[in-house]
Amino acid sequence: MSKPNRPDRRTFAIISHPDAGKTTLTEKLLYFGGAIHLAGEVKARGQNRRARSDWMKIEQQRGISVTSSVMTFERDGITFNLLDTPGHEDFSEDTYRTLTAVDSAVMVIDAAKGIEPQTRKLFEVCRLRSVPIITFVNKVDREGRPPFELLDEVADALALDVCPMSWPVGMGGQFEGIYDLARDRLHRPAADATGAYEGDAASVAGLGDSQLEDMLSAQGLALLREEAELAQVGYAPFDETAYLNGDLTPVYFGSALKDFGVEQLIDALADFAPSPRPQPGDPRDVDPSEPQVAGFVFKVQANMNPQHRDRVAFMRLCSGKFKRGMKLNQVGTGKSIAVHSPILFFAQNRELAEEAFPGDIIGIPNHGTLRVGDTLLESGETIRFTGIPNFAPEILRRVKLVDPTKTKQLRTALNDMAEEGVMQVFVPQIGSQMVVGVVGQLQLDVLISRLQAEYKVDAAFEPSPWDTARWIASDDPKAIAEFEGLHRSAMAADRDGAPVFMAKDAWELNYITGRFPNIRFSATKERH
Ligand code: G4P
Repeated sequence: MSKPNRPDRRTFAIISHPDAGKTTLTEKLLYFGGAIHLAGEVKARGQNRRARSDWMKIEQQRGISVTSSVMTFERDGITFNLLDTPGHEDFSEDTYRTLTAVDSAVMVIDAAKGIEPQTRKLFEVCRLRSVPIITFVNKVDREGRPPFELLDEVADALALDVCPMSWPVGMGGQFEGIYDLARDRLHRPAADATGAYEGDAASVAGLGDSQLEDMLSAQGLALLREEAELAQVGYAPFDETAYLNGDLTPVYFGSALKDFGVEQLIDALADFAPSPRPQPGDPRDVDPSEPQVAGFVFKVQANMNPQHRDRVAFMRLCSGKFKRGMKLNQVGTGKSIAVHSPILFFAQNRELAEEAFPGDIIGIPNHGTLRVGDTLLESGETIRFTGIPNFAPEILRRVKLVDPTKTKQLRTALNDMAEEGVMQVFVPQIGSQMVVGVVGQLQLDVLISRLQAEYKVDAAFEPSPWDTARWIASDDPKAIAEFEGLHRSAMAADRDGAPVFMAKDAWELNYITGRFPNIRFSATKERH
């Protein structure tokens, strides 16, 4: 059912709360997409084996996913790029920014739990950019909440129209299969002990078809007919425009573990999910059909190989056809960068990319030249892609060195990690202790262990008097100078030297914001 005349890329991410089944679903998507042979199996080849095991060591040390940042698979002539959003209890800016590089998202919900806090946070980020979302209600092979309750929760909690595209026939012990409402097909579990989906679905003429009587128990069929009919009148019909605008989410029920609904999900991505769209930029947007290459860096990963102080910048291609060896201009610095060894990510293998197209992600090894938010252009134009923000930290900590002679190393390490976008670093106007800002507690633990492992710096975090920070700006430069003069002890500079006001708590922030109407206090900072 793919549409003609559409470029063949779907660049998407999975958003979910930990344990909802993102990893299992990712494996199954790669499996059904033919990118891996057995779900979970990682095939090592030749010299890649060593490189990969190094990566995995780092992955363990850091507790974050390095190897699988971008996974690519192909099906029916369409290339799917799945961008990993690190699956912590906490979330980081890195996760946010990854969502600036996708055209759509799949939201995975545990059928027993419904919408959980992290699902909601990540959803809000998608909503900011009107990213269209397909919902996958997972684990229907286990006892879950009633489908209506789950659908209503999505609709109410996220203020979205929901449209069920399939319906579970019972759940848990009563699970008899999934009915595809759009295609009138029944997917049933194998009769053996695995209870997994074997891949053959029965087409029927509709819910009233008497053939269903031989396929389901009388009770199961009665329930399916009643619920599915109610659902079809009770919820909005599928409206592609509303989906593309981020106002409606089609909902699929399934079990990643038992293979139910996974192929339907791939079909849905192929059929409805948007291919690359024009990318907002200043002074103009860039259309994917433009012949010259344009892209932006949404993530930088340092020290992927402990032997080299190298970094990989992840660039999303927005237009043109990228060829290996191409020179790209880094907007703003006037530097020209020859991209000799770009990396395309195929499942867990790193492969040299010869060419890439809009929607693809390219890993560009570099020595720290490329930063998150950078725009790279083949032409000499000056365009900056917008909407790749820094976020106001929710936790601010002072950094204390165990060995004071390591100040320089600490500074380098913090700058590196700030460049990666995993945290922010602020230099207070008064005092010498740097302040680190993160959006989640777990990031602090990751930072400490990375400082030790990668930079041999023993450091600790101490409480700071501040709770949050805001970038300040004003049309009147004198107003900024005056504000800084009055609040010197709460002022700091971010790594670009931009002024930041650190507030003790929400009350103080509110109070100060009210007292200085000529100053803009902003929770996000877009790079310009
Ligand atoms: P995450 O990446 O979102 O954190 O979730 P992950 O895929 O790791 O899944 C979390 C747990 O849920 C795993 O169980 C996984 O097997 C299970 N799971 C995922 N999808 C389904 C499903 O469709 N049905 C059922 N019944 N379970 C599912 P675990 O016990 O934590 O790990 P494991 O020992 O099974 O690997």
